[in-house]
Amino acid sequence: YKQISRYKSTSSHSFNDFGPGNHQNKNTGAAAQNKHVHKPYKEMQRAKRAQAHRSVLINTSSSISVPLIYKECRQYGKINHVCHFKDEKNSVLIEFASPSSVRELLSSASHFQNPQNIPVQSRLLHFQPRDLLRSSVNKLKVHTVEPPKLELSRLHFAKTISDQMQMLHLTHQISDFDSRLHFFVCSCLEDSLSGLFPHCIVEPFGSSVNGFGKSGCDLDMEVDFLPNNKDSRFQTKSKSMKFRTNKHKGNEREFAQQILQVLGDVIQHFMPTCAGVHHILNARVPIVKFFHKASSLECDLAFKNPSASQMSELLYFFGEIDDRVRPLVATVKEWAHAKNLTRSNPGPWPSNFTLIMMVLFFLQSRRQPILPTFNHLHRLAGQDERIVIDGINFSFTTNLSRLPVTQNDEGLGELLMEFFNFYTTFDFTKYALSLNDGSATSKPDSAPLYIPNLFELGHNVSRNINDSHLLGLRHGMEAAVYSLETNSNRESNNWGILSILHPGDNERPIQMRVSDLFHQDNEEDLHTSNISEMNSDAGMADSEK
Ligand code: CTP
Ligand code: MG
Repeated sequence: YKQISRYKSTSSHSFNDFGPGNHQNKNTGAAAQNKHVHKPYKEMQRAKRAQAHRSVLINTSSSISVPLIYKECRQYGKINHVCHFKDEKNSVLIEFASPSSVRELLSSASHFQNPQNIPVQSRLLHFQPRDLLRSSVNKLKVHTVEPPKLELSRLHFAKTISDQMQMLHLTHQISDFDSRLHFFVCSCLEDSLSGLFPHCIVEPFGSSVNGFGKSGCDLDMEVDFLPNNKDSRFQTKSKSMKFRTNKHKGNEREFAQQILQVLGDVIQHFMPTCAGVHHILNARVPIVKFFHKASSLECDLAFKNPSASQMSELLYFFGEIDDRVRPLVATVKEWAHAKNLTRSNPGPWPSNFTLIMMVLFFLQSRRQPILPTFNHLHRLAGQDERIVIDGINFSFTTNLSRLPVTQNDEGLGELLMEFFNFYTTFDFTKYALSLNDGSATSKPDSAPLYIPNLFELGHNVSRNINDSHLLGLRHGMEAAVYSLETNSNRESNNWGILSILHPGDNERPIQMRVSDLFHQDNEEDLHTSNISEMNSDAGMADSEK
């Protein structure tokens, strides 16, 4: 039971080996540049995938049974890691040292004796302690992991605005437990599809893995039946013997829609604890949305989406280049949410992704740039980093040693102020934010905000934003400059970033028409905003029992 206690002692900030960044070596100046150990994205993905496949998620009706779960599981082999998440479900995520322990545990588990239950086998289990054991458990102390919380008022005691921003980032960043759960849910889906597609891969992308995720963020995942991988598993073994298969009809998009229709149905009917399945197939990127009750995760499943997954790796790398990137993004995102300038559901307001792009562009645009342009990363791509999929070039280097160290030593507080100043004077009517060459380029169309997708320049990643919300963002930034200027003194109640994180004073109410919710190519997004409401009453069904 030691592992539970050990997790407890490190859990509040969960700086696991592969977490984004290493806060201990962080510093806001150029001198500290690149001192923290760089964790390559692919290595992080590989390690977390393997971890997830060796894990089981067990729920139990009472937290008192948690030590018993540990005792029971210990019989099947060495346990690497245990997290007990104390919510109404009492979920315990157990990572075994060996996949054979998981197999043994599953082969010993039984099904509920209820004829209505579909007898699906998965690594989601329910634990019912036997009465005999239950009596001995009172002597064991249960340690739990609470979701990290930052009382904003604690920021008052920081010494500088930079420290406040670091605190905010460290407390809000995706926790080790969150990250394990995200990879675990992907691995469960992979298991269920593996009968038909043994090489299938389900991987998270977006905020789960791009280093800018917040604890409790949604899970975006993509499924690929036969990844184009150099892995020896995918090499053709025999040139003469081929698998017989069906041919799909229609183009790639139609195929993705058909597959997601079927996967959505499979998830709804056969995947334990999945609810609120919603097919959103006419969006630019077709997805299936669902709620995974055992992990309390809102999930979006897309069919292979190389642009989004490469973007996740690129964003992760931008965050690795300089220690100031992630705290600045975290503060800007938090500010935008506090001031109601953005929301978690899609709509005509800036998404988190747009805000991240705005911060990255700003950091590329400093007199002494903090971040390189994408074109620069593209040119530096080594032979093994050259990727072209369906005619789109995704090549960029992720080798930090190929990049020069920035001469910029601005502190985080200064950068925050400059970020707001930069965009209050930016001419959005004329210019697009091109992260490819790190400069303002003329806009190809009349969209209020134009940020070309780094890989597909003809796509505007912020095409959903309307004039009113862009104006709101700009007003919010002007107000933020004013608040930061007038609250720089540590004596004042809401000094530093506290002055921009409290809702109230300066926020401008969002004026919204229903038609604003519909945007080009994405008319079904309106439905997605209702999903979380639908799911909120989808509590943990005990129907299995
Ligand atoms: N993406 C993209 N182009 C867009 C929108 C999204 O390439 N126009 C990719 C990005 O890699 C993004 C991912 O899809 O990170 C997931 O999109 P989304 O869920 O909207 O953003 P997240 O970064 O996951 O942020 P959030 O926490 O708000 O979900
Ligand atoms: Mg997301």
